[in-house]
Amino acid sequence: MHQDMLRILFNNQEIDTRCQELAKEIDKYYKDSQETILVIGVLKGCIPFMANLIKYINTDVELDFLAVSSYDGKESIGDVKIEKDLNRSIKNTRVLVVEDIVDTGRTIKEVRTLLMNKGAKEVKVVSLLDKPSRRVVEAHADFIGFEVENYFVVGFGFDYNERYRQLPYIGVLKEEKYR
Ligand code: IMP
Repeated sequence: MHQDMLRILFNNQEIDTRCQELAKEIDKYYKDSQETILVIGVLKGCIPFMANLIKYINTDVELDFLAVSSYDGKESIGDVKIEKDLNRSIKNTRVLVVEDIVDTGRTIKEVRTLLMNKGAKEVKVVSLLDKPSRRVVEAHADFIGFEVENYFVVGFGFDYNERYRQLPYIGVLKEEKYR
């Protein structure tokens, strides 16, 4: 375990197993689809989760990425800005957004609106974590890996000021590391 970590909430095996289950749910949902699904990762937190999840998805997919900024350290500033836009048109496309977490819900709400405004036929969301106790706007993911209490987590894509994203597990830092 990394020296800055207090404890691990989900180890790599648990995350991998959950990804396999989520992929099954996703395949089941899209089983009658005649078209390719566009999987859109929300950078940068989606990276490890998306890489792990798509290995187990059998549905025909294409990949794209979107970057938005809404977070400064530990607190949400509540204003979502597009930092990197999609590479292609999504008119009439079924879209599956891959998020790291639904926290206040602001990001996913904005992203859903943005993608619908771009002409998507349908927008579904898969999120590795859900922190329902922190919600300030009405928003939800359609597929959820794990529900968590009100912890600020790091690892497996989650950062604290851009650090710890590469850890293969999700955990909580020692109190003195959150500064
Ligand atoms: P929102 O508050 O639902 O808009 O979430 C915005 C973003 O904040 C998420 O996509 C994460 O990147 C980040 N975030 C929320 N909670 C945590 C956390 O516990 N650890 C690290 N990043 C977080």
